[in-house]
Amino acid sequence: MSMSFPWLDRAGRLSWLKLVTFVALFVPGLWLAFQLEAGWLQPKPVTEAIHQTGTWAVRFLLISLAVTPLRRIGQFGKLIAVRRMLGLAVLAYATVHLVLYVVQQHYDLVHVASEIVLRFYLTIGFVALLGFALLGATSTDAMIRRVGAKRWNRLHQAVYGLGVLALWHFFLQAKLNITQPALMAGLFLILMGYRVLQKRGLGENPVALAGLAVVAALGTAGLEAGWYQVVNHVPASRVLAANLDFDDTLRSSWWVLFAGFGLVAFRLARRFWARATPTRTAAPRAA
Ligand code: HEM
Repeated sequence: MSMSFPWLDRAGRLSWLKLVTFVALFVPGLWLAFQLEAGWLQPKPVTEAIHQTGTWAVRFLLISLAVTPLRRIGQFGKLIAVRRMLGLAVLAYATVHLVLYVVQQHYDLVHVASEIVLRFYLTIGFVALLGFALLGATSTDAMIRRVGAKRWNRLHQAVYGLGVLALWHFFLQAKLNITQPALMAGLFLILMGYRVLQKRGLGENPVALAGLAVVAALGTAGLEAGWYQVVNHVPASRVLAANLDFDDTLRSSWWVLFAGFGLVAFRLARRFWARATPTRTAAPRAA
């Protein structure tokens, strides 16, 4: 009988990449448990824990969506080995997030159910969670074989739509300040835009990647201004102008721009690296 552990590769050997990722996925959860235990999250520990688990669910979602661009641009095919783990971490953190909400509502499941039905931001959070559960349940090798690779890929493309729902939930629950959700949405724009470039064969073109960085940053600024205009009735022009006010903190759009150019830098670094170290096999061997 063969046993499989998350830190083994397909051949059953220890994979450091998988081991380090596996351990890292527990760190935010353990840190949260430690803070709860130490009483550092007073006066509202459960609410604080709901926020931390929700934030990490979104972060792991973005990291899992970054696997494809990073492995293409970095020519680091092995990264694919940790994508499933990252996806399951999204499901795990989002599930704990829901459980904590049940705790916050004093285990009154009828009340929780009615809140999910009545409050739109909870309804879409719930739909997103159901979606992640479906993807998690169909993520085993046996399931991929059963469904067939092509149909499986199509099914798992639902993750893009689920990402939109999760981000929307993130925006809606924010009371006044949408800096964080806007930043996450901007990074999501880069990750989605990358897939559009890739389809057109431009996924490794530095100029196209630079264009993507600019478009995603402008999109973030537009989304933020549009949100404040519609939800808070703050004139969009004022919010847009704040992007050019450098006395205060940098707005989300700038961080999105930096992240986008980080991808360009990564692409150029690889080209440089490839020149500096020609093919390994061609190196002459000393007699
Ligand atoms: C049944 C499903 C869900 C329920 C009942 C739920 C409930 C909540 C609640 C009550 C809050 C805090 C609102 C407040 O304090 O005013 C919250 C915030 C949040 N949720 Fe959810 N949620 C669900 C699903 C999800 C999913 C699937 C994700 C992401 C994958 C997610 C990500 C977040 C994030 C990022 C926040 C904000 C955290 C922060 O402020 O930093 N939630 N959710």
